[in-house]
Amino acid sequence: MARLLHIQASPMGDLSFSNRLAAAFLGSYRAAHPNDSIEQLDLWREDLPAFDFTAASGKYKVLRGLDHSPEEARAWQRVVELTEHLKSADKVVVSSGMWNFSIPYRLKQFIDNIVQPGLSFSYDPVKGYSGLITGKPLQILLASGSKYPAGSDAAAMDFQKPYLEMIFRFIGFEDIRTLRVEGTLSAQAEANLVKGMDAAVEAGKNF
Ligand SMILES: Cc1cc2nc3c(=O)[nH]c(=O)nc-3n(C[C@H](O)[C@H](O)[C@H](O)COP(=O)(O)O)c2cc1C
Repeated sequence: MARLLHIQASPMGDLSFSNRLAAAFLGSYRAAHPNDSIEQLDLWREDLPAFDFTAASGKYKVLRGLDHSPEEARAWQRVVELTEHLKSADKVVVSSGMWNFSIPYRLKQFIDNIVQPGLSFSYDPVKGYSGLITGKPLQILLASGSKYPAGSDAAAMDFQKPYLEMIFRFIGFEDIRTLRVEGTLSAQAEANLVKGMDAAVEAGKNF
């Protein structure tokens, strides 16, 4: 029995295009894998720690091989828990809208917590960086108000898809699949969603 973790980054509930894409994907996943468990991590309900002075100085101490102060150790414990939670999943789904050509700040806050030396990546002066979260497929499900077709001028403004794919690759994910619904602010929004949901149903079956 596999454990799937769905990290949900839109606050818009049933109105969200990425949430509806995820619902189509997960519905078909559940039908194809009835014995697997699906856990929802709603980043707008989760008590995500601020990555503040104490957490950042804890990170620098790890990078420099120094001991944590008691405050840093407490902040780091929360970082470890969030990262272990991600690591404990067999399969990961991330759904997100585009905000200001990138991702909503709650998803960035989650990423700032879980991209950590010794936990999700390592550094070797000879080999460089290596991701430590390996062997799990990742499905990214995206929505954006406008369209950013590959090769167009608009594509240069898309820091949503390339960033998410890069940061998860950095921490070790290799099998990364991405599906997006674009033009969600246009008159064709619902038609675009229907097409996206059809693709999500297919993708869910085969995840
Ligand atoms: C704060 C904010 C910023 C946005 N910035 C962009 C943007 O830069 N480019 C874009 O195409 N759409 C932008 N949009 C529109 C959303 O990407 C679009 O509504 C998308 O469907 C949101 O995903 P969701 O429906 O899953 O919440 C923005 C929406 C919000 C609320």
